[in-house]
Amino acid sequence: MVDFSKISAVDRSKFFRHKTDYELLGRYLEENISLKPVNALVVGVGNLEEPLSILATAAETVSALRSRGISINLAELLKLSLLEARTKEEISPVYSLGKGYGSERSLMGGIFLTPEQKKNLPQHPLKPRFVDDYPAGFELRGGEYFFSEEVVDRVQEAVREGKFDTRIQEVIDRSAIRYPIIFFNNVITHLGADGERITKDLTTQLLEREGIVFMHHSGSLGDSKGVGGITKMVEDNPNFVHLQRIGPAVYRRKI
Ligand SMILES: C[S@@+](CC[C@H](N)C(=O)[O-])C[C@H]1O[C@@H](n2cnc3c(N)ncnc32)[C@H](O)[C@@H]1O
Repeated sequence: MVDFSKISAVDRSKFFRHKTDYELLGRYLEENISLKPVNALVVGVGNLEEPLSILATAAETVSALRSRGISINLAELLKLSLLEARTKEEISPVYSLGKGYGSERSLMGGIFLTPEQKKNLPQHPLKPRFVDDYPAGFELRGGEYFFSEEVVDRVQEAVREGKFDTRIQEVIDRSAIRYPIIFFNNVITHLGADGERITKDLTTQLLEREGIVFMHHSGSLGDSKGVGGITKMVEDNPNFVHLQRIGPAVYRRKI
């Protein structure tokens, strides 16, 4: 089982890594409330930064809906299905967003400071931009921002029910479920020469019609880096005529 008691400072850049994804997700959730939660598949969960970002976004959507008089909770809005090639034991979740040192006007993360310098500078909670963008997903405790208890609870549940030690290619042909949302960020580069075929199978066999797939790449794909790599793979390719681009590396299944 994953050790959820571990709390350590985290590389904050790993949360909300592809900002536009979360804006699109929030909008989708707002526009698609129904009696059943939206079931989103997350392939390749890393150390849970992506699931935490997704659930914090959904927590913000819940808050926006409640302010419009729509009574709903996080579990009713979104269900996360995790799928990861590594075992549960290899996942090391980290929740603390850390403390900053200095004046509030010029806050620094602290990794370059000696313990002596840290002692002599005032401390403040680090408040990254995403805490301002999705305040409902966070809480301030003991001078530090954390993902809210509700968000962490939902992530724990998703881990308990998730498929670990399983590769995406093992489920594509067998799954009876189709998903309206699939997060497939930073995974294709792990699939070697089969990347394009598996992406085609994933988007035709696991993605619902009108569903959305997120396929960002921080590194290189083929001979292009980042969004350029995925654009080059998908666009003008007969294998992907069913996809329509709706964001930087985000596609809607149109047929
Ligand atoms: C670079 S991380 C990306 C994590 C997350 N999606 C993100 O963008 O922050 C790639 C993850 O994909 C997982 N992975 C690699 N090959 C996979 C496969 N065939 N099926 C499922 N997961 C895979 C790795 O174990 C790793 O956790």
